[in-house]
Amino acid sequence: MQVSPIKFEKFQAADDADCQRRIIAARAKLGKRLVILGHHYQNESVYRHADYTGDSLKLSRYCEGLDAEFIVFLGVHFMAEVADILSRPEQVVVLPDLAAGCSMADMANLAKVERSYRELNKVLNFDETITPVTYINSAADLKAFCGEHGGIVCTSTNAPKILEWSFKQREKVLFFPDQNLGRWSGYKMGIPLEQMPVWDPDQPMGGLTEEQIKNAKILLWKGHCAVHQMFRLQNIEHFRKLHPDGLVISHPEAPFEVCLNSDYVGSTEFILKTVSEAPTGTKWLVGTELNLVNRLAEQMKPQGKLVQFMSHVVCECSTMARIDPQHLAWCLENLAEGNIVNQIKVPAHEAKLAKLTLDRMLQAS
Ligand code: 13P
Ligand code: SF4
Repeated sequence: MQVSPIKFEKFQAADDADCQRRIIAARAKLGKRLVILGHHYQNESVYRHADYTGDSLKLSRYCEGLDAEFIVFLGVHFMAEVADILSRPEQVVVLPDLAAGCSMADMANLAKVERSYRELNKVLNFDETITPVTYINSAADLKAFCGEHGGIVCTSTNAPKILEWSFKQREKVLFFPDQNLGRWSGYKMGIPLEQMPVWDPDQPMGGLTEEQIKNAKILLWKGHCAVHQMFRLQNIEHFRKLHPDGLVISHPEAPFEVCLNSDYVGSTEFILKTVSEAPTGTKWLVGTELNLVNRLAEQMKPQGKLVQFMSHVVCECSTMARIDPQHLAWCLENLAEGNIVNQIKVPAHEAKLAKLTLDRMLQAS
C-alpha cells in the first residue's frame, strides 16, 4: 500500500547532527538500490555522503553506467536533468531541493534562443552556417534545440574540443549561455576577440550590425555566472605581490582578464587534480566556488600547501547550497519508505533530442 510522503516541514527544524544520523540510517535501508552523486561545489555536510563526485563531464559519464534504482543528485537542476536523460528510463533521479537551479543557466531560455534563431536567419541561413553550442549549464529544452539544429553540448572540460567539432560542421558558432567560457575557449583556439562579439538576446538583432554578424566566428550569448564574475584581476595582482612564487588557477567561467592572468584554467575536476598533484609547499590562488576551495585548502594543509580563495567577498553558489542535510534526509527517508519525492523527469520528446547532443559531446570528447 502506498503511504503518503513525509512532509518536508518535519525536517525543517531538525538539527544537522540529527539529519546526519537519519541520512545514514535511510542509506543503510536502501542499500544498493541507491546511488548518490555529488558536484564539487556541494557543502561538506552533504558532499560526504556522495558515492561518486566530479565535475559536470565526469558526473555525466557516471550516469550512463549506474545500476541503482534511485540516483540522488547533490547538485543543481540541469545536472539532475542530464542524469535523467543519460540514465535508463526505469531509473529515478531525485534532486533534494527543486529550487536548486543555476542562475547562469537561467540567462538563456527557449523563447530567447528561438527568437535569436529567427533574427539570425534574416542575415544568414542559420542551419547552414551556425552550429548552436550550449554549455551543459542549460535547461534540457535548450539541449533539445541544439539536437534539432545540428548542435552540441559542451562542458568546462571539453569546450575547445567541442568548438573544433562545431567548426567542422559549419563556419560559425552561437555559444550560450556563458560568454566567458565561450570567449576563453575561442581565444585558446586562436580566434581574435573582435570575431567573438556579444549577442545580447534582449536587443533587436542581438545589438549587432549585419556586418558584425557576418564577420563573427563565435556569437557569445550575453550570460555569465554571478559567482565567478566576482573574481578580479586585482585579486591576482595582490596575491602575486605577496607570493611571487605562487600559482594562480581559475575556472573558465571567470572573466577573461582573470583567465588570461592565471597560470592554469580548467574545470573543477582539473583544479582539484592540479593542486592535489602539485609539489609540497606550493602556494595557490584559486578562482572558483568557495566550498570547493575550502575543502581543498583543508586537504592540502598536511602537505604544507597554501590554498587561498580568490576573492575577499564570499562567493558561494547559493543555489548549490540549497542542498542541505535537511533536504537530503527528507528525500532519503521518503525513498526508504517507498515514496518518491522531487523526481526530475525530462519530457520524452525533449529528452530524445537532448540525448542526441549529449551523445555527440561524449563521443567528440
Ligand atoms: P564544472 O563542470 O567545471 O564542475 O563546472 C560546473 C559549474 O557549474 C561551474 O560553475
Ligand atoms: Fe551555476 Fe555559477 Fe552556481 Fe555553477 S557556480 S552552478 S554556473 S550559478
